Amino acid sequence: MRGLERLIRPFLFALDAETAHRMTVRTLAAVRLPPSAPDDAALHVEAFGLKFPNPVGLAAGFDKNAEAPDAILATGFGFAEVGTLTPRPQAGNPRPRIFRLVRDEAVINRLGFNNEGHAAALRRLEARAGRPGIVGVNIGANKDSEDRAADYVAGITTFAPFANYFTLNVSSPNTPGLRDLQQEAALDDLIARAIAARDEAALTHPRRPLLLKIAPDLSLDELDAIVAVARRRGIDGLIVSNTTVSRPPLTDVRHAGEAGGLSGRPLFPLATWVLAQAFIRVEGAFPIVGVGGIDSPEAAWRKIRAGATLVQLYSALVYKGPCLVGDIKQGLLAALKRNSTTLADAVGKDAATIAAEPPPANAVRPASA
Ligand code: FNR
Repeated sequence: MRGLERLIRPFLFALDAETAHRMTVRTLAAVRLPPSAPDDAALHVEAFGLKFPNPVGLAAGFDKNAEAPDAILATGFGFAEVGTLTPRPQAGNPRPRIFRLVRDEAVINRLGFNNEGHAAALRRLEARAGRPGIVGVNIGANKDSEDRAADYVAGITTFAPFANYFTLNVSSPNTPGLRDLQQEAALDDLIARAIAARDEAALTHPRRPLLLKIAPDLSLDELDAIVAVARRRGIDGLIVSNTTVSRPPLTDVRHAGEAGGLSGRPLFPLATWVLAQAFIRVEGAFPIVGVGGIDSPEAAWRKIRAGATLVQLYSALVYKGPCLVGDIKQGLLAALKRNSTTLADAVGKDAATIAAEPPPANAVRPASA
């Protein structure tokens, strides 16, 4: 597969980023790949009542409309998160709206929740019902929604028969005002309504874990409040983090000034520092999924030691291709052997050290700000 990747990559890079992405998802949706080889038992993870074959998941935004979860799982991912899905279809922002910062191995996007809406994704998830593999559904609100929390509730009610877990995405920077849902009172109301909808759906379907996905652009005061609300309300897990609106020093000046969320390699220090801060505050109350800038086995290992029970990635696939998933899994197995430890024991081992470091250059405002 590695040779094939090398051959295809120049063609994809000759296309604009969104066209290349569209072609990749279409191809994945059309092919029937054999299931990936079973993972080594040392990579198995149990979290939120689910059994993951390995801790490496595909982050939201790659398969927004649930077109190709089985092909994604067949490439070796331990789980796939589809979405973000909003109740009604939505066009998103004008193109171009995805930019590759090649020299930084980064991406800036301002897609704005372009998606086909609940009904289209539901049909696809219904059609694959009963197939193995963990598929999470990431839900959000329409841009012009009058009651945003109601859109999340609709997502839970709609997808409860098929979603192995839900992610409440309150951290996209590209829907004006969405990140305000991270504020304490709004978040408390959202989580309360989402949990009520989940519990109601659990009368007829399995109880689906509810995860909350947060931004890396938070003050420590804001993070304190978010974790406190999440713990009080009984959320099942946290995903840290979405893209950043901050800009660390970037080499690719052509696109560095584009508006939107930055992901990929330059996000790693910030997202990992916020992850460690979250881990310390969560005190084991629920697991955390670490996302942001994972592009190697070493980066995945560092995320786990910073506090991630599971990890996700997206941007590095653009630069390294799907073989990265297998490379990370092999590298994690080697790290476990080298350190004579288990994944469960490694989680958060470096959290205190990382959290004690000064925030990365592009990091959060100080707690008092
Ligand atoms: C994203 N991401 C994202 N997240 C989310 O919760 N809902 C979404 O719809 C999207 N859409 C999206 C589109 C594009 C083009 C990118 C690059 C990213 C964020 C993604 O899931 C992840 O949190 C960040 O990209 C950080 O991880 P990586 O990309 O650095 O591994």
